Amino acid sequence: MTLIGSGFKAALIGCGGMGRGHAAKAKSLGIELVGYCDEIEAKAAEALAEFGGSYATTDADRIMRDDSIDLIVIATHHDAHHPLALAAAEAGKHILLEKPMCVTRAQAVEVAEMVERVGVKLVINCKFRIAPTAQKARELLSQPRMSHGQLAMNDSGASGSTWVWHADDGGGLLISTAIHTIDLLTYLMDSEPDRIYAEGRIFGQNKGTAGYPDGLVGTILWKSGGLSTVISTDQGMNPFVSKWFHQMWDGERSAVFSSHMTRVDFGGCEIDHLDARKLPEEEIAKASMMVNLLEAIQTDGDTLCNARDGVRAVTICNALDEAARTGKPQNVPN
Ligand SMILES: NC(=O)c1ccc[n+]([C@@H]2O[C@H](COP(=O)([O-])OP(=O)(O)OC[C@H]3O[C@@H](n4cnc5c(N)ncnc54)[C@H](O)[C@@H]3O)[C@@H](O)[C@H]2O)c1
Repeated sequence: MTLIGSGFKAALIGCGGMGRGHAAKAKSLGIELVGYCDEIEAKAAEALAEFGGSYATTDADRIMRDDSIDLIVIATHHDAHHPLALAAAEAGKHILLEKPMCVTRAQAVEVAEMVERVGVKLVINCKFRIAPTAQKARELLSQPRMSHGQLAMNDSGASGSTWVWHADDGGGLLISTAIHTIDLLTYLMDSEPDRIYAEGRIFGQNKGTAGYPDGLVGTILWKSGGLSTVISTDQGMNPFVSKWFHQMWDGERSAVFSSHMTRVDFGGCEIDHLDARKLPEEEIAKASMMVNLLEAIQTDGDTLCNARDGVRAVTICNALDEAARTGKPQNVPN
């Protein structure tokens, strides 16, 4: 059987937890991993030893100059997403870019313009979009009017890894993690954001000095007229709804997403629920942004979370942060 990634050569930049997950997925799809880059030399070398390939380096330019490489996975801390995505696109590489696309809207717009100018494919790994539960809800509910999205996780500082709270390489919990929720709401509401408001508080310890809230409650008014509420916090996870919890309503039908986006319960629809964990293995494996990127390259189609989707999610996060800091509603730029 020919695997969908056969014939593709890739490199990984950022060989930490997520990067190695991507390397394993790439191998399972038949992609040949050629180079590994990390600012910590040992991390790149460990990944090379684990997944195989030609070289490990701390020099991202070596990857960009390598003509054999078709696509680059970028899974670094957040400050490096902007320069690396720009360089990868300029070098003509297709890109799987971890969320957030960038830390600021201005950076994200720059990357989007470069990607569009050069014509490479880019997918942002806002993977809830491709979850079978989200796909089914998009199919069954039309023109949603209201939705709620929530990240409520256990104390993110407890593991000792605090970089997400840094102003330089992290950007706070909202843009680091709750961006999954923001992106999903955008996808489900199928609209551009219009006006945004939020209140934020810092409840816990070990959240750095940059002032990012560890408890944020926000609202989004969409251009469609729809409304969403958002919660982003690390003040504790409820195992019943899971770390991620989303709901949506269209006036006649409703959907409730739980169990880490693997289950959706419907009201007023022809089916009452979908449990994605019970789908055939091949279907579960296909629900991946890496597969989506390969399909977009092969068909010259669009990815499910493209550069403009990435810009939108970053824009909303920036506006929620700004509203929480200033106490003022934010009109979102187009
Ligand atoms: N989509 C998801 O579900 C999901 C889940 C977790 C993390 N992430 C994202 O994945 C990315 C990586 O997160 P992680 O949890 O793997 O972090 P990590 O700290 O485990 O790994 C990041 C690696 O990047 C390296 N790095 C940082 N800056 C670099 C640079 N400029 N050049 C080269 N290497 C650099 C670090 O040395 C580290 O080895 C982040 O964008 C994060 O938000 C996504």
